[in-house]
Amino acid sequence: MTKPQIWVSIFLAVFIILFFLGRITKKEETSRDLSSETYNEMTEESSTELSAEQLLNNFGCLNCHGSNLTGTQMAPALNNLSEHWGKESLLSYLRNPGNYLNEDRFKEYRKKYPSQIMPSFGEKNIKELGKIVDYLLAH
Ligand code: HEC
Repeated sequence: MTKPQIWVSIFLAVFIILFFLGRITKKEETSRDLSSETYNEMTEESSTELSAEQLLNNFGCLNCHGSNLTGTQMAPALNNLSEHWGKESLLSYLRNPGNYLNEDRFKEYRKKYPSQIMPSFGEKNIKELGKIVDYLLAH
């Protein structure tokens, strides 16, 4: 190699090293930004959103189904719901319980709990209903 060729290759090598160093540090910065953003979102949500237990109380579910969801004279216990419902179907039930009254289980309920009927929660926030559904299916 001639002298100028050596200089050119040294220059190129330094350039390439700087280029990659630049990219690596840049990547680290963006990932740090992202994680602090998601962290903020998470803390914001947890300070404003209600838990499933609070929602069950606020929506009046506990008044009829009992404070531990074990049932009362007005409404059945809400346990083993995953035997009968999936996430989608339970959500759809809460939004429109009237659609299910023809099923045998519900005909029994109508006889057993003549004084009350499961109200429709179609007006409620779908995310909050989803939270209740997840909670109920996990019990
Ligand atoms: C006014 C009383 C009342 C309130 C309030 C109420 N329910 Fe009900 N619920 C009933 C009755 C009664 C039934 C039995 C079905 C029927 O007769 O309509 C029932 C049935 C159900 C079922 C079906 C049970 C099964 O075996 O599949 C679910 C699930 C349910 N309720 C969840 C809820 C949730 C969640 C809330 C609150 C968002 C709620 N209920 C609020 C009275 C109530």
